[in-house]
Amino acid sequence: MKLAGQVAVVTGAGRGIGRAVAVRLAREGAAVALAARSAPELDGVAGEITQAGGRALVVPTDVRQEAAVEALARRALAEWGRVDALVNAAGLATFAPVTDSKLDDWDQILAVNLRGAVLCCRAVLPAMIAQRRGTIINVGSVVTSRTLTGSAAYTASKYGLLGFSRVLAEEMRTHGVRVGVLSAGATDTPLWDAMPAAPARERMLRPDQVAEAALLMATLDPNATLEELTLLPAGGIL
Ligand SMILES: NC(=O)c1ccc[n+]([C@@H]2O[C@H](COP(=O)([O-])OP(=O)(O)OC[C@H]3O[C@@H](n4cnc5c(N)ncnc54)[C@H](OP(=O)(O)O)[C@@H]3O)[C@@H](O)[C@H]2O)c1
Repeated sequence: MKLAGQVAVVTGAGRGIGRAVAVRLAREGAAVALAARSAPELDGVAGEITQAGGRALVVPTDVRQEAAVEALARRALAEWGRVDALVNAAGLATFAPVTDSKLDDWDQILAVNLRGAVLCCRAVLPAMIAQRRGTIINVGSVVTSRTLTGSAAYTASKYGLLGFSRVLAEEMRTHGVRVGVLSAGATDTPLWDAMPAAPARERMLRPDQVAEAALLMATLDPNATLEELTLLPAGGIL
């Protein structure tokens, strides 16, 4: 098991990509703190992990709330004494042309996708720096390499996340902490449920494929770092 003895914090762990990442890291031996707002969903993921012999901790968390995010890091540290990996997969998307978009949607998307990830990084970094070891994986999107009309707020949040991650990666380079962005193309998750014209699900990536890429980033030898990885469905759907 590639992550035996290690500890991971995964946000957005209740469903979709975050859930798949949490389950995959746990299968590789990591103890995983599961964060999202919905406790019942987290309980379901924790059940799946523990039934398979893994270790999981349910920590209902709204990543928009600084105090809640700090409590999440404290819980993981109190339980297991270290944090080796943070995967920021909490996120949301709504789509509308800029002229029709609602300011509240902009605020919510930036608060979760960008500010929430920043808060989570800040919460675990002191432990990672003290350990001189850690991997942060921020889940980005193909929208930073291919332009998608109607996605301005979401695209702005993911460009923000990418820029933030690049700066943080440089700042952490001498501390033994790796920071990378895993930019995924269309992935078949509940994120698409509310969208009337979603692309064909069977042509999207599966969450377990994104999880496999996250595992790769988290398990590279410590002297190597995968800072930007774009994973796309091969079949033309982005
Ligand atoms: N699906 C795709 O095609 C795709 C492609 C590229 C990148 N991504 C990115 O991948 C990440 C995960 O997306 P997904 O497709 O897996 O979405 P999803 O299935 O809708 O899952 C989103 C997760 O984020 C959590 N979340 C939302 N708001 C939160 C908050 N304020 N605090 C804590 N957790 C929160 C949700 O739980 P609660 O609602 O219970 O809080 C849920 O667990 C997002 O950053 C998304 O932008 C997705």
